Amino acid sequence: MSGLGGKILGCIRPYRWRFVGALAQIFLISVFAVLEPWPLRLVIDTVLGGKPVDFLPGSETWPKLWLAAALCAALVLIVLGSGALNLVYNWLAIGLGQRMVNDLRARLYAHLQRLSLAFHSRQKVGDLMMRITADSFAVQTMVMNGLLPILQSIVMLAGMLLVMIPIDPLLTAVSLTVVPLLIGLIFVFNRKIDTVATTARDTDSQVYSLVHWGMTSIKHVQAFTKEDEEHRRFMAASGAALHAHRLLYFWQGAYSGVINGVVAAGSALVIFVGARDVLNGTLSVGELVLFTTYLARLYVPVNQITQSWGLIAGARIGAARCFEILETEPDLPDGTLDFPPEGAKGRIEWQGVGFRYRADTPVLRGIGLAVEPGQTVALVGATGAGKSTLLGLIARFFDPTEGRVLVDGVDIRQYRIKSLRRQVSMVLQPPLVFPLSVADNIAYGRPDATREQIREAARLARIDRMIEGLPQGYDSLVGEAGATFSEGEKQRLTIARALLRDSPILVLDEPTSALDAETEALVMQGIDRLTRGKTTFIIAHRLSTVRRADRILVLKDGIIAESGSFSDLMRCNGLFATLYNTQFAPAEETQIGV
Ligand SMILES: Nc1ncnc2c1ncn2[C@@H]1O[C@H](COP(=O)(O)OP(=O)(O)OP(=O)(O)O)[C@@H](O)[C@H]1O
Ligand SMILES: [Mg+2]
Repeated sequence: MSGLGGKILGCIRPYRWRFVGALAQIFLISVFAVLEPWPLRLVIDTVLGGKPVDFLPGSETWPKLWLAAALCAALVLIVLGSGALNLVYNWLAIGLGQRMVNDLRARLYAHLQRLSLAFHSRQKVGDLMMRITADSFAVQTMVMNGLLPILQSIVMLAGMLLVMIPIDPLLTAVSLTVVPLLIGLIFVFNRKIDTVATTARDTDSQVYSLVHWGMTSIKHVQAFTKEDEEHRRFMAASGAALHAHRLLYFWQGAYSGVINGVVAAGSALVIFVGARDVLNGTLSVGELVLFTTYLARLYVPVNQITQSWGLIAGARIGAARCFEILETEPDLPDGTLDFPPEGAKGRIEWQGVGFRYRADTPVLRGIGLAVEPGQTVALVGATGAGKSTLLGLIARFFDPTEGRVLVDGVDIRQYRIKSLRRQVSMVLQPPLVFPLSVADNIAYGRPDATREQIREAARLARIDRMIEGLPQGYDSLVGEAGATFSEGEKQRLTIARALLRDSPILVLDEPTSALDAETEALVMQGIDRLTRGKTTFIIAHRLSTVRRADRILVLKDGIIAESGSFSDLMRCNGLFATLYNTQFAPAEETQIGV
């Protein structure tokens, strides 16, 4: 808790003056609250009872009605003053809370963008969304509904005790008898609420993940008519969340009920002892009224503290979930070297590289490979052989589990990640278009590109005609007003994006898998033109693409099974030749893709 408290204080630090302002308000509000029952007490004791006011010498000679009128006016002023103070306080505290939430969200989002793909492949998107949008509110709850009310209650409690003790120390002591009991109850209940709140959060998160998954895969759900099953799954998760929240409300309700019971018993005891004192003549009626008013208020702060504590207990879970993300160290430590301004030469080498996503299953094993600048290397192999993984290592999406990857003779871990990634243009699997304009989509990797350069890239990727046919051409927003793209169009858009980026290393992961043979041939011409002199990797399943490479690698179960030029591989009559004969040859003859 102390660790979490420190982190929350860290969130307050940028707004410390606002926080100090809120504290000052709290102090003033407490002073007003302590003053509030005084006019009534004076009306009863001095106006009605004729008792002189000890701190107002000569008050017994004042005209009674005027004194009553003045006291009533004072009462109104006190209430108005405390109302105004509350308004200012709320404005300050809400501003403080909202700013803290905003900061925390920004930090979370920025941090999530920096964490590696290895991290993201372990996380559920819905869970992360929940942490950013909902859990981040916990810092506001903890400060606004937790810390500040507790401080306010402590100040108020201290103020009332200061007034009560001189009047009747015994009665004050009686009012405090239930406090240890209350504190004991707080701890017992909080422990229970803590566990129940954690379960509730987790089940909420499950629902988020399920909805996210369901919405992103809606087409598949409908295609397989799995709506009912998905609905059942959702209802199960939603039902679990409902149950967890009902349990949480039950415990929170039980908590307030028990606390209220204890408070009522305490009040009864004080009224009884106070009434006895008035009968004995040791306490005035006005003082008993003052006491009972304070008593009702004395339990407000104590109650407030206990309830705030409950809120803090619930919010702690959310806050902890946020800080857990912030404390996840980026598992890709950044290097310090930069590539020269003219870019990398493009020599890439894998030395004894092994990689595994999960400890028990090696995906790549003992990869040794050197690619010279300007070479074009084609990768073929069965699905799941590790092709995408092998190429992902170049951009440090992951670090190898064993061995190292070098660019221009230097271990890539020594380069700054940004500088390294700037050397690589990628067409990734599956193709992705952003909800931006078509022009911004193509210029995603090179925002300073001119419209002419964007058009040229689109032309080379053979997507120019399609774009020009859109209602607003290059300015059409993707996904709006008819600007929807088929898989093949998306692929060509991502190819245009990679071509425009114009980096010395090009990684094309099945860039043309959704294109017909004729379009593919045209697109490949464009790619060829722009990849001259660049180190290019292309994963492909089609002979026409594979054949033009300087070198072909056949990947099988995470190892390089064969490597050489097309004619070399055909000559040695191994895996590639078999693949060619069963898969590529008919495709070449009929020009129909695999
Ligand atoms: N994020 C991940 N977490 C765990 N395992 C993964 C992850 N990505 C890929 N894998 C596994 O690693 C292996 C290699 O995957 P990879 O994507 O490199 O194959 P590939 O050769 O590119 O296949 P394809 O031709 O289907 O694209 C597969 O068995 C896959 O299940
Ligand atoms: Mg792949």
